[in-house]
Amino acid sequence: MDHFLYRDGALYAEDVAIADIAAAVGTPFYVYSTATLERHFRLFDEALSGTEHLVCYAMKAASNQAILRTLAALGAGMDVVSGGEYARARAAGVPGDRIVFSGVGKTRAEIAQALTGGIRQFNLESEPEMRLLSEIASAMGQVVPVTIRVNPDVDAKTHAKISTGKSENKFGIPISRARAVYAEAAALPGIEVIGIDVHIGSQLTDLAPFEAAFLKVAELTETLRADGHDIRRLDLGGGLGIPYTRSNEAPPLPTDFGALIKRTVGHLGCEIEIEPGRLIVGNAGLLVSEAIYVKEGEDRQFLILDAAMNDLIRPAMYDAWHDIVPVIEPAPGAEQMAYDVVGPVCESGDTFAKGRMLPQIQAGDLVAFRSAGAYGAVMSSEYNTRPLIPEVLVKDDHFAVIRARPTFDEIISRDTIPAWL
Ligand code: LLP
Repeated sequence: MDHFLYRDGALYAEDVAIADIAAAVGTPFYVYSTATLERHFRLFDEALSGTEHLVCYAMKAASNQAILRTLAALGAGMDVVSGGEYARARAAGVPGDRIVFSGVGKTRAEIAQALTGGIRQFNLESEPEMRLLSEIASAMGQVVPVTIRVNPDVDAKTHAKISTGKSENKFGIPISRARAVYAEAAALPGIEVIGIDVHIGSQLTDLAPFEAAFLKVAELTETLRADGHDIRRLDLGGGLGIPYTRSNEAPPLPTDFGALIKRTVGHLGCEIEIEPGRLIVGNAGLLVSEAIYVKEGEDRQFLILDAAMNDLIRPAMYDAWHDIVPVIEPAPGAEQMAYDVVGPVCESGDTFAKGRMLPQIQAGDLVAFRSAGAYGAVMSSEYNTRPLIPEVLVKDDHFAVIRARPTFDEIISRDTIPAWL
C-alpha cells in the first residue's frame, strides 16, 4: 500500500499534487511519501513484536538524510555497507549501537572508522576479514561484537544479479565450514562472536527460500551452542519483495515474514535483527518525468522522456518492470496504445519499457514511474553529464526538496585541471 493516489483527476503524493511539485522543482525528480515510509517500517517492527528485535533499514536502498531521519525517529537501526553509508547514518543522528556493518569487502579504513565512531556489530563474511578486524580492534583496545554471515546454499528464486545465498555467490562463509570458522573466531582476541547472519537475496516473492535458510540457521545455532559458543543474536537479513505491478499476485507481507521468523527461530530465544530495504522505501517513491517527444518509428511509437537510464537504472540492469502512469488521470476506458518508453541517453539500453500500453501521451505530459523509491536515486549517475535529479519528501500537505539538482557549474567544478594544462 502507498500514498500515491489519483484525486480529482490528478496524481497526488499524500495531499500534494505531483504537478505542483513538478512546477516548483522541474522534472525529472524523485518524490517520497513520509506516510508510506513510516507505515512500512512499522509493519516490520510490529511483525516482530513480543520478540527482542531491531529493524535495521538497509540504507543502500535509499540513503537520503531526510529518509534516514524519518526512519531513525521511529527507532530504526541501520544496515550499512560502506564508510560512506556509516557516515551518512551517523550524520542522520543514528547512534553507533544501532548500526550493523555488512559487506564482503570492508577495508581497514572502514573498520577503523566504525570502531572509532561506535558500532553495534560487524557482520563478517570471511576468515581474512575476521583476522583483520580482530587485529585492528585489539590495537584500539576493543573487543567488538560480531556475527558471521553464513551462505546457506539456498536458491532465493530471484533475479541472478540479486541472488546472494547460493554457494557460487561471493557472500558469507559456506555453512558447511561454519563450525571451524566459529572455532577460529572464538579464539581471536579483538572480536566477540555473538551471533549468526544470513541474507539470501533481494525481491523474494515467496517465503519458502527464507524458511529453508532460517531452518538452517536454527540448526546451526544449536550446533554452535553445543560447541560452546554463546549465540544470542540472529541477523536474518532483508530481501522481502514488493509488488511492482498492480496486476501481480501480492508477495507475502511483513506480518507473514515476522510469523515465519517466530516459527523457525523463535524457540531459540535469540535477539532478532532484520535488514529490509526495498519493502520500506520501494513503494514509497515515484520517479516523475516529462514527455519530451512522441516519435513515430518504422513499426512503433517512441515515448521520449526527460528521465533516462542514469536516473533509474533498474530496467536496463535487471530488465525490471516499473508501472508507468500519467499524472493526469486517464478517463475511464480511455484508449491505450503501445509505446517504447525511452530516455535521451545515447544508447539503446536506455529503454524503460517496450510495447508498454499507455493512454495517449503528448509532449509536455507528466508521467510517474511507480515503485521507484528503492534502488532508484542511489543507483543514479551523471552519465551524459545529466545532473543527479532532485529528491523531494512529502509529508501531509507539504513538501521539501531533500536533495537539490546541481548546476552545471557545480558538476564541472568537481574536476580539477593538472598544472600542465
Ligand atoms: N542486507 C544485505 C546484506 C543486503 O545485501 C541487502 C541488499 C539487503 C539487506 C536489503 O535487501 P532488500 O530488503 O532491499 O531486498 N539493486 C538491486 C537490489 C540489490 C540488493 C542488494 N542487497 C535492485 O535494484 O533490485
